[in-house]
Amino acid sequence: MNMNPHEDVAEVLVTAEEIARRTEELARTLERDYAGRPLKMVCILKGAVPFAADLMRAMNHPVALDFMAVSSYGASTKSSGVVRLLNDLDESIEGQDVLIVEDIVDTGLTLKYLRENLSARGPRSLRVAVLLDKRERRLVDVEVEYVGFRIPDRFVVGYGLDYAGFYRNLPYVGVLKPSVYEEAP
Ligand code: PRP
Repeated sequence: MNMNPHEDVAEVLVTAEEIARRTEELARTLERDYAGRPLKMVCILKGAVPFAADLMRAMNHPVALDFMAVSSYGASTKSSGVVRLLNDLDESIEGQDVLIVEDIVDTGLTLKYLRENLSARGPRSLRVAVLLDKRERRLVDVEVEYVGFRIPDRFVVGYGLDYAGFYRNLPYVGVLKPSVYEEAP
């Protein structure tokens, strides 16, 4: 691992400027769609932190924030759809307009679980916003109302997405150099 994370990046797929522009567009759409209704954003830890932070600040709208952490049991069991709730929301969402904010939808298993789990708590409405959609990897049908960018099936890091816990702080979405994986223990 390089001490300058930018030097580990082989290619930038979505630039910081593209993310900022799309986030503004999504913010305007959300303001219109939730006109007259305060919004409860549920940020899914950890990857969605940068997107949720920028999206909420782009909105001229009453936005409340809560967090949830979930984890799949790892690659081998992912297809089983088993998702574990690691940290629950602090507050009830009953009767509220809730927007789940995620960094990426891949197989769709995490969002399917989240939609089912949260809709059982009686929100007034429940929708999903994701920055990145890797549609060709989808295993289950799950509705995603707001999508930032569709991306190809490549392992991406940055703007919340990690490799071995790092690279989340890159301001863009990119692909790592093969040498980074070769160094892995
Ligand atoms: C990532 C991402 C989604 C999930 C998407 O989380 O943030 O929650 O995977 O994959 P799926 O559509 O195949 O379910 P990850 O488990 O990497 O956790 P993190 O956000 O803490 O990095």
